[in-house]
Amino acid sequence: MTTKPRIGIMTSGGDCAGLNAAIRAAVLHAEHSYGWEVVGIKNATQGLMSETPQLIELSTEKMSAHLLREGGTILGAINNRNPYHFPLPDGTRVDRSAEVIANYHKLGLRGVIGIGGDGSLALLQRLTTQGNIPMVAIPKTIDNDMVLTETSIGFDTAVQVATEALDRLQPTAASHSRLMILEVMGRDAGRIALAAGIAGGADIILIPEIPYKLAHIAAKIEQIRQRGRNFSLLVVAEAVKSESGESMMMQHHGGESRYGGIGHYLGHKLMEMTGAETRVTVLGHVQRGGQPSPQDRLIASAFGVRAVDLIHQGKFNRMVAWSAGQVIDVPMADVAGKTRAADPKGIEVTTARGLGICLGDE
Ligand code: F6P
Repeated sequence: MTTKPRIGIMTSGGDCAGLNAAIRAAVLHAEHSYGWEVVGIKNATQGLMSETPQLIELSTEKMSAHLLREGGTILGAINNRNPYHFPLPDGTRVDRSAEVIANYHKLGLRGVIGIGGDGSLALLQRLTTQGNIPMVAIPKTIDNDMVLTETSIGFDTAVQVATEALDRLQPTAASHSRLMILEVMGRDAGRIALAAGIAGGADIILIPEIPYKLAHIAAKIEQIRQRGRNFSLLVVAEAVKSESGESMMMQHHGGESRYGGIGHYLGHKLMEMTGAETRVTVLGHVQRGGQPSPQDRLIASAFGVRAVDLIHQGKFNRMVAWSAGQVIDVPMADVAGKTRAADPKGIEVTTARGLGICLGDE
């Protein structure tokens, strides 16, 4: 039986590239700097729902550099098993938060690191307050829409994937004289679309933060044609609504709905309006997987190290955050459940307008 102090770590909500780099950093720093052991909690709060919590011992020997290169999370993640409304097979829901809290306390941990996005941090914040759990949070989301941090783990890789998709779509668009539409993720923020659209040379970028008119987009496509170019590239964030304001949703297993369909809606409308031969690519979860970019590995490593330091200092209910090239920490309560839309007057939008990219509003 070990006598070393132990801390825990879990990955909550949807996965993204760079989570393993954060886990690795926390384990290495905890052991090298403080002589602590780290235990991984499998599938976040679901791992604390049985009498015997589901754990993974995370020794430094297991933390080789290959984890930096691996997408996903070695701890597993869930984003549809809220312990406050836990779904039962018969479709009813029960509150299992007390079990999660009781099982957490049985572990005798000095503190726990919760890696999550705005939704999962809201849930973790509620649990930590109710159950007096000493937690430090690390922000992750490809959408990069968490408040009080300039960036989150996973965003840079997602932008890289979406940019590469445009790099690949452009030559085939040119060969066939087509309008290519790329639908990218971003639950309520258009940051991936904006960043990848600028980096990948899109002609049109549509984001939920800026209302659009189909006529403006059609005019842009016509203008490109009249100036002698035979193709155009349009990037749209999945959360963009139809012109009349209807959300484009898809139903998934268990009745859950997620964004989906705006790319095909636009393809249909623009083909009718411009006569352009149009093809639609929906990038989907490709943006969440694959090798993390160097930037995501770096941010994840810095966040992992700082989170362990906060536990050492006894600074709990804080989230590490990126601000002006530094890692700072902010109250979890100020972040949980809040989202940060792209700024319609921000640097990305100003840059896009400066480049002559159509944002659909003029
Ligand atoms: O919030 C991250 C995100 O990838 C969104 O961009 C996307 O809308 C959603 O999660 C997809 O969720 P799921 O993995 O449950 O389909």
